[in-house]
Amino acid sequence: MEMPDDKRGMMDVKITRDEALDLLIMYNKNDSLIKHAYAVEAVMRHFAELFGEDAEKWGIIGLIHDIDYEMYPEEHCKKARTILEEHGYPEDYIHAVQSHGYNICTDVEPLLKMEKVLYTIDELTGLITATVYMRPSRSILDLETKSVKKKWKQKSFAAGVNRQLIEEGAASLGMKIDEVIEETIKGMQKAAEQLGLAGELSLI
Ligand SMILES: [Fe+2]
Ligand SMILES: [Fe+2]
Repeated sequence: MEMPDDKRGMMDVKITRDEALDLLIMYNKNDSLIKHAYAVEAVMRHFAELFGEDAEKWGIIGLIHDIDYEMYPEEHCKKARTILEEHGYPEDYIHAVQSHGYNICTDVEPLLKMEKVLYTIDELTGLITATVYMRPSRSILDLETKSVKKKWKQKSFAAGVNRQLIEEGAASLGMKIDEVIEETIKGMQKAAEQLGLAGELSLI
């Protein structure tokens, strides 16, 4: 049963994006993990806009979803609760963060649309990044869905990316996989420079 996203957010304590970024930087020093956080943030914002939901909130949850991974990889998704509680994050943020590791590192199921999107796009951003790295241009700006689809079908390419999980996530959203890939690319394109995926325009 899906609960409308706005029903559970009514008791919101307002967490700002700056506070979330401070927390991310406090717990994460690894550049590729920070870039992953920015990628997931950008895609979450994009999907929120697509669905007419709270882009600020979805973005923040994307930004901090792996908050515990660098320092506590063995306790991934579990330590996140402690960290976020300590910093005054509301329960719905914590639930969303924990649910991204459903059946991998938690039994917290993604129930809200926001949670289902996070669950679906988390690893997909990794596949898309790896696809861009293979391009001579190293740019996501003109990347097409069909190029990602080609890599999707090569099981040995970015083999750690769980295609089945992404397919299940897409189905739970009532979306076709091609549509999810296309929208995820669009979301990442908005943060291309920050992600180092803008070819010559990249900051790195
Ligand atoms: Fe994770
Ligand atoms: Fe992640």
